[in-house]
Amino acid sequence: MKVTINDFFKKKQEGHKITMLTAYDYPFAQIVDEAGIDAILVGDSLAMVVQGLDNTLPVTMEEMIYHTRMVSRAAKRAMVVADMPYLSYQVSIEEAIRNAGRFIKEAGAQAVKIEGGREVADKVEAMTKAEIPVIAHIGLTPQAVHRMGGYKVQGRTEDAAKRLLEDAKMLQDAGAFSIILEAIPAGLALQITEDLTIPTIGIGAGAYCNGQVLVIHDVLGLFERFVPKFVKRYANLKGDALDAIRQYKEEVEKGLFPGKEQSF
Ligand code: KIV
Ligand code: NA
Repeated sequence: MKVTINDFFKKKQEGHKITMLTAYDYPFAQIVDEAGIDAILVGDSLAMVVQGLDNTLPVTMEEMIYHTRMVSRAAKRAMVVADMPYLSYQVSIEEAIRNAGRFIKEAGAQAVKIEGGREVADKVEAMTKAEIPVIAHIGLTPQAVHRMGGYKVQGRTEDAAKRLLEDAKMLQDAGAFSIILEAIPAGLALQITEDLTIPTIGIGAGAYCNGQVLVIHDVLGLFERFVPKFVKRYANLKGDALDAIRQYKEEVEKGLFPGKEQSF
């Protein structure tokens, strides 16, 4: 049975944690789904970990649709959440609904995610009214990298913290069914989590959120250009892949592969 937004609310009410990880293609989504993770985020972080770009801004709708389709085919149980790319929802309510709807209608997602606070509350409301479940995302919002002047922890001053708390409430009132809190102090994340009825999902937001999300390439040790403080590496797949590929190379060069078993 697919995880639904009702399971999100139930987990918060019953004090169970919601688990979320990114995936961008069929094999990784299959692994995440089989592991029992509640939701797969097809993040625009694919810009950095799949496309080799420096930030998420260039990612297009067509690219996100392509990746979301691959993930949807693999997700038997996990909810698939499509991340809306930069400029696909900021321009107008009409564009926001049309683009969000494509993820549901053409790519098999069950929900979308958008970045921003009060300035996108009208979009959240309109998408929700169009029957598209929306996850909000505040704090460090990577699409705002130029405004923020880099990837920095947000909500550190009293004013900034108060504003984020207000934003979170406005997004909840607008109809968001969950909210991602990225790179904010743990105490502020706790306050937001306690003040909201919808579940909070943290990334670099401490242990008190209702759930957690990370980028799968960070978790598996497949991305090493930089590792944020909030990442924990649970595997070293880059190292494992290197060992395997070096062994293959050596065996081919020495005439050890293919052997009799691989020959007709
Ligand atoms: O794109 C992404 O992977 C994200 C998560 C890190 C929240 O937005
Ligand atoms: Na993102």
